[in-house]
Amino acid sequence: MRYLLAPENTLLVRGPASFRLMNGEAAVLGAPLTRNIRLVVRQEKQLPIEARSEADLEITLGEPGSVFEVQGSTIPTSWDSAVEALAEMEQGKVMVIGAADVGKSTLSTYLTNRLFGLGIESPVVDGDIGQADIGPPTTIGRAVPTGYVSSLVDLKPDGIIFTGHNTPSQVETKLIEGIRRLSDRNHQSLTIINTDGWVLDSEAVIYKVRMIEAIQPDLILGISTNTELQPILSGARGRSFRIEAPKNVLARSRSDRREIRTAGYRRFLDGATTRTYALGNIRLKLPKSLQSIQAATTLDLKNLIVGLLDADGYLLQIGILLGLERNLLRLHSRATNQVKEIELGHVKLSIDGVELGYLEL
Ligand SMILES: Nc1ncnc2c1ncn2[C@@H]1O[C@H](COP(=O)(O)OP(=O)(O)O)[C@@H](O)[C@H]1O
Ligand SMILES: [Mg+2]
Repeated sequence: MRYLLAPENTLLVRGPASFRLMNGEAAVLGAPLTRNIRLVVRQEKQLPIEARSEADLEITLGEPGSVFEVQGSTIPTSWDSAVEALAEMEQGKVMVIGAADVGKSTLSTYLTNRLFGLGIESPVVDGDIGQADIGPPTTIGRAVPTGYVSSLVDLKPDGIIFTGHNTPSQVETKLIEGIRRLSDRNHQSLTIINTDGWVLDSEAVIYKVRMIEAIQPDLILGISTNTELQPILSGARGRSFRIEAPKNVLARSRSDRREIRTAGYRRFLDGATTRTYALGNIRLKLPKSLQSIQAATTLDLKNLIVGLLDADGYLLQIGILLGLERNLLRLHSRATNQVKEIELGHVKLSIDGVELGYLEL
């Protein structure tokens, strides 16, 4: 369909959908739209198109996609204040925190685009292992933007760390260490760190304070609807900004999140086939609670997610364990070489990326 969007207004496009700008000027999350280039909005996601002049759009909607026009911008003014603060910093680490569905990933995308537009290099570290956008779910991904993006999903990872779990409370130390490692890689640029939405209960507060102390961000952007981040921000040292949650966020149910994860696993399992790896030159890395390979073979490990790691411990590919017999490991994964270590994770997956449960120890 064709849609004429009035100047200064915003069209919220819910996926599955795609659109392109035919005439006029418009922007999506701080990125100016190029005419005739089609952008895709995935299922369970929403993108705001802001008209700079009258914008003539061509839109294709899938089921249950929709469009909804709102007056003005859906970008809170504090998001632009954050851009100004970051542009002044030029380098350092900026951590985005907040509960689920408050716009953390969207703010990270907006900052990335705006900084890109200002010519400031800003690597992004995506520490939300449950709703990972840069790497597959269960991983922390890092990427350096080389252009405008409509989602962090569009960024090409240059470093991924495997945690093997989709729940932060189950892999706290590994997650904090992983984010620290990836965010300390480039001190000359301005690294944006996106985090998971576990912030509300007392354990979450202890965990997030610990994360902040380990990572030592130069600035914390706390997205909140009320005073819910106070316990974390008063518990941790460091400069912080309060950021408004947008009014038009799209909340997701548990099953929506699962579906987003399935799509995330599939992105990294597309083209996977059955492959066999001989242990020996390749080490098997077991979860901490598992003492030996013998102990591992007594457990039902079928369908367990695994990480294929290089010599530096970075993820090359994820895989799904199909069998472990003596020193032979059969996996469903994409081709990769230079595997030095195969790490067992905790999530069980079908080969089409559907979560089946967790490893019972
Ligand atoms: N400023 C905004 N304008 C329009 N939609 C938004 C805005 N911020 C977030 N959303 C939508 O709300 C949903 C949740 O936002 P997201 O950034 O994924 O939250 P979080 O990362 O905190 O879980 C997304 O579909 C996103 O497109
Ligand atoms: Mg997110």
